[in-house]
Amino acid sequence: MKILVTGGAGYIGSHTCVELLGVGYEVVIVDNLYNSNKKAVNRIEEITGKEVTFYENDIRDAKAMMDIFGKEKPDCVIHFAGLKAVGESVKKPLEYYENNINGTLVMLDAMRKCGCKNIIFSSSATVYGDPAFVPITEECPKGKITNPYGRTKSMLEEILTDLNVSDPEWNVILLRYFNPIGAHKSGLIGEDPKGIPNNLLPYVAQVAIGKLEKVGVFGNDYDTPDGTGVRDYIHVVDLAIGHVKAIDMIKKACGVKIYNLGTGNGYSVLDVIKAYSKACGHEVPYEIKPRRAGDIATCYADASLAKKELSWEAEYGIDEMCADSWKWQSMNPNGYND
Ligand code: NAD
Ligand code: UD1
Repeated sequence: MKILVTGGAGYIGSHTCVELLGVGYEVVIVDNLYNSNKKAVNRIEEITGKEVTFYENDIRDAKAMMDIFGKEKPDCVIHFAGLKAVGESVKKPLEYYENNINGTLVMLDAMRKCGCKNIIFSSSATVYGDPAFVPITEECPKGKITNPYGRTKSMLEEILTDLNVSDPEWNVILLRYFNPIGAHKSGLIGEDPKGIPNNLLPYVAQVAIGKLEKVGVFGNDYDTPDGTGVRDYIHVVDLAIGHVKAIDMIKKACGVKIYNLGTGNGYSVLDVIKAYSKACGHEVPYEIKPRRAGDIATCYADASLAKKELSWEAEYGIDEMCADSWKWQSMNPNGYND
């Protein structure tokens, strides 16, 4: 079975390709390398000892998409390609809608014309907004989303669902990720953000390695056990394995399915800093700062549906997530740019 992975050179995509190859799928990557590096593809091959077909193309390029789908005839697409920086999306909404929405439409048209109607989509817990309840089940209503990035995720969920209504041959799995962190055990692939990181873990990692001075903790007056924000951090390898399990489901012609991919555990910002300090062997310095606009207090998953229907469950805890992140960070202090 052949899987076409858009955005496969990126953080979650590269880890997913390793897991796909590990269970014997053929993998074709389409990535324009806007937020990634060709070296990630080489490292996927190094880890697995298997070859990957790589196209450096933009999913908005209709001709390229037709050529690739026509030639490769994949059985299923895992669609990671997209822009993902929340703050940037507020400043550049047109670029976000154009890349994420238009890019997906162009790709879906090529899929339809080439008869590939199976897609697994990278959605986000951000679609729940400030969640109506925690732990968040898939039944939780979508909430008010505060930024264009999050709206592209929510809109794409609707667009993909409409496709299945129009033609039930389409099978669509919407995976709502919580907060992926960590890296592959080998230390060869991991998260390589460009510029100053926006998300907590890459920021903590860069403080730990000495590239940044201290972590700013955005608020300690939330209604949480220690006052700092609580999230459901999930090891990126667990998340990657969730995609392999989703393929088993799509093979059953499942129609539209939605799954939360999280651990079900919430950790605070201070919990994470503590776990990272243990992983790197020294205290990670931090200071309390004002709250960040748009942040919520608490967000963690009820991931029991994925367990029941996909036989998937996250295995790694926060200590392993931090240890594996630190291994990647210390082996590759400048990411893929060494
Ligand atoms: P990433 O930026 O590392 O990977 C995305 C990849 O897509 C990059 O390699 C980039 O070069 C590529 N890409 C972007 N636009 C493209 C285009 N038009 N054509 C071809 N390639 C293109 O991000 P990631 O963290 O691996 O996230 C993967 C997906 O998961 C994204 O859709 C993201 O929104 C979603 N997601 C991520 C998180 C997270 O915390 N990382 C959480 C929820 C959802
Ligand atoms: C953010 C996005 C979300 C996106 C997700 C994954 C926002 C408001 N939300 O989620 O839409 O799906 O990333 O890309 O940006 N924190 C600090 N200091 C930092 C960075 C973060 O204290 O330097 C805190 C935050 O306040 C939060 C927690 O750490 O409590 C996690 O933050 P982050 O890693 O940015 O993820 P989310 O905000 O959950």
